[in-house]
Amino acid sequence: MAISTPKAPLTLRNLSEQVAVACQLMEGPQGVIQVLLALVNGEKVPTKDLARKSRLPLPVVAAIKNELQKRGVLRVDGPATLSDMGRSLMQRSWGGSRFQETLCPVCKGRGHRWPPGFPELLNKLTNYCRNRPRVDVRLDQSQAEPETSLLRASYMVARGGVLGKRVLLLGDDDLISLSLLLWVRESVGPDALKEFSVVVVDVDERYLEFIQEMCSRENLTVQTVHHDLRTPLPRNLGSFDTFATDPPYTVAGCRLFVSRALERMTKDGTGMGFLCFGQSRSDLLAEVQKSLCGMGLVVQEMIPMFNRYLGCSVLANSSALFHLSVSTDAAPLIRDVYEGSLYTRDSKGKAKKYHCMKCKGEYEVGPGHPIQTIEALKEHGCSSCGGRKFKAYG
Ligand SMILES: C[S@@+](CC[C@H](N)C(=O)[O-])C[C@H]1O[C@@H](n2cnc3c(N)ncnc32)[C@H](O)[C@@H]1O
Repeated sequence: MAISTPKAPLTLRNLSEQVAVACQLMEGPQGVIQVLLALVNGEKVPTKDLARKSRLPLPVVAAIKNELQKRGVLRVDGPATLSDMGRSLMQRSWGGSRFQETLCPVCKGRGHRWPPGFPELLNKLTNYCRNRPRVDVRLDQSQAEPETSLLRASYMVARGGVLGKRVLLLGDDDLISLSLLLWVRESVGPDALKEFSVVVVDVDERYLEFIQEMCSRENLTVQTVHHDLRTPLPRNLGSFDTFATDPPYTVAGCRLFVSRALERMTKDGTGMGFLCFGQSRSDLLAEVQKSLCGMGLVVQEMIPMFNRYLGCSVLANSSALFHLSVSTDAAPLIRDVYEGSLYTRDSKGKAKKYHCMKCKGEYEVGPGHPIQTIEALKEHGCSSCGGRKFKAYG
């Protein structure tokens, strides 16, 4: 006679473990819990927003959603939403959304908010952002939303990193230089512009020209330096009290950009840094924090999902902001010319196949081919029919 073992009741723990195994999640069961928590309000959430809310890459969230649907925890059609069964599970295990009542209702746990009363400033930056150069994904560019640029600038000011300081920005496709100058002029007053200076270093001349043009339109002063950070900074750049950077989101990129900043930072114990990093995998974050610690930097604050981007879906369109202080014995980990891999795409290094959605003409894009990126292919258009929509295949 067959002995039937009673089926274990569905709990958040066994559900998250099963789904993590089914999706081979690097994040483990916690990744599944993050997705469920993002749905606990009972809202219908499109997959892109779900990725942002749960701080997971879009393809990972799509896979989790699929597994939760198969298990009846999410409704099958449309944007992700809990089924009746999912809702009662979350009620049993988490008390529904009650835990959210403990988050600050103003900043929703972000820790810093855009102050009310400056709508014209946001409109102005949004208009400027519409005309900024196209992203060059070979340089890991992906532009921050205008709100993020102003929010980061206001955060840097609020933490005492700007007024009375010499500020170094390493890479500035997010237009932090412009945001800093506009924000200080609006919120503190035009006299405060004499209280600090901003230097932008970038390898992309288009951005440097754009920043200069917008600043001169606004009668603001910024120094721009065209330089590839793979080589040490020019000696005549002077020294700085504050640095800010949104480096390529690889451990090597973070190490290199921060090392270059430290070449030029004053070491009197008052220096600070603002670093963005878009990976939420704990192994990579641990590597980053080990490197920061090894360079004599102290993490004063780390705000997950502080920055939001227009692209970057593989990184959930968001990144964390680190507020760092520079200790008296801070020193770069990289001092010489750097020749290793740097960008997220360096690790992939493979060409991709696309076909034109109009005439099905085929293209290979990437290393070893005349067109390096899908953005460049769209700009160039299909050689046969001029179409600008392409689909990946193969
Ligand atoms: C690396 S991108 C990344 C920031 C982006 N917001 C993101 O989400 O990933 C930031 C800036 O660094 C610049 N940059 C990239 N590689 C560089 C290099 N080797 N030297 C100097 N600047 C570089 C880019 O042009 C860009 O303005």
